[in-house]
Amino acid sequence: MSSPNETLARSDERGLPPGPRMPSSLQAIGWALRPLSFMERCESRYGELFTLRVRRGRPWVLLTNPEHAKEVFTTAPELMRSGAREANPLLGPLLGPTSVMLLDEPHHMDDRKRLLPSFHGTRMQEYGEMMADVARREIAGWPLGEPFALWPRMQAISLEVVMRAVFGEVKGERLELLRERLVRLTSWVNHPNRLAMLAAIGPRSITTGSGFEKVMKPVEELVLEEVRERALDGGDSGNGQQTILAMLAHAYADTGSQESDRKMRDELVTMLSDGPTATSLAWVFERLLRHPEKLARLREEVLEGESEEYLSAVVTETLRLCPAVPVVMRRLVEPLRLGGYTIPAGTIVAPCVYLMHRRGDIYPRPLEFRPERFLEEAAGTYTWIPFGGGVRRCVAASFAPLEMRRVIQTVLREVELRPADARSEGVARSSVSFAPDGGALVIATRRAPSEADAERRQPVAG
Ligand code: HEM
Repeated sequence: MSSPNETLARSDERGLPPGPRMPSSLQAIGWALRPLSFMERCESRYGELFTLRVRRGRPWVLLTNPEHAKEVFTTAPELMRSGAREANPLLGPLLGPTSVMLLDEPHHMDDRKRLLPSFHGTRMQEYGEMMADVARREIAGWPLGEPFALWPRMQAISLEVVMRAVFGEVKGERLELLRERLVRLTSWVNHPNRLAMLAAIGPRSITTGSGFEKVMKPVEELVLEEVRERALDGGDSGNGQQTILAMLAHAYADTGSQESDRKMRDELVTMLSDGPTATSLAWVFERLLRHPEKLARLREEVLEGESEEYLSAVVTETLRLCPAVPVVMRRLVEPLRLGGYTIPAGTIVAPCVYLMHRRGDIYPRPLEFRPERFLEEAAGTYTWIPFGGGVRRCVAASFAPLEMRRVIQTVLREVELRPADARSEGVARSSVSFAPDGGALVIATRRAPSEADAERRQPVAG
């Protein structure tokens, strides 16, 4: 006779891996309120492939084996649609139906090809200087000697960075207004009740009979105002380089003005809604400040200014241990054989970044923050997946780590930070990413200039 546990864990007849049998409404609550511990419990009970039924009972198969992730990321995109709408039902109304993140083939690849050049090659060095400059000005306004949360400060930096990449120079008042409106929009959608409704019912729960329009419209208006003004001045960034906006405007010039407005709105809101970079930066400091010996090693490297080896390892390790986006999703167009199961068409398959990054067989002592692991061995394509994978891999997978490196360097050069509370922070869920629940609370003091600073500031001969 089978035990209750065996009955619970039994694979069901449709070829899906096992998973909790509790009603999907309860699974939705578990997912909405404590997704990370919910996934951890499922993994320890059912193993590396398990099925959740979160939205109206529709199955999601979560996977933590890199071989399975490889299968998902390398299957033809026509057979593996982006599950962005399912990955986070909020994304539909927020980003808009024509956002590159929500399109499927063939339109997705056309859009992606248009965006990618803006995030690669010669642009990167120019972005790097701009990122450090934005960080320096932001840090100059930080309070000294009293606790404050770093996360919102990192949001301010990443918003300005992305605005400058997209629009070029932006007027101070407009930047401030857009920041206020984006903050209002994200706090509205991140309300715990809305997240629970979203997980259980889907996007309709926030778009009908609610205040969504009231917080979304002002953001759209401001973005389109900026687009129109820029169209008049030719979209120049002010230094001869084409901005992302100018490039998009050129790409959509042939479409009707209504269609082009829609497209611009969706692509720009997608980029402006970048939550993960700020969240990841908040985690870098939350972790580093609890590991003074790692912080000291990093500071020494940064102040010497000759290498970025340890800095890169710190960024890679933070994205491993505290991935801002814990799962990526695809919807199957055809059945898929995975780990001995035949997963039916229509199912969502979801490489689970969070759980894979915590597998002890891939990362020994996985819960330890140990950047050194990435000095010993480079991150693997299918074992380190904070940016997802395949043809949907984040377009900013080089841009965001560059931003993180420039911001960390600037912070370490300008101020000394210590945690406001020695205890580690937990994880707070938002609709866009997973951040430290105290907002990375720190106390800053001005850093006394060192000999290395003086040397760095010497003019270079020749
Ligand atoms: C640390 C920071 C970031 C993280 C961890 C991150 C993570 C991700 C993840 C997990 C995906 C989905 C990948 C998949 O489905 O396989 C994604 C897609 C995307 N991200 Fe990021 N992201 C970050 C920063 C950014 C920034 C700064 C931008 C733009 C300015 C950006 C723009 C996009 C776009 C446009 C896509 C859709 C790509 C496509 O569908 O082809 N991301 N990102």
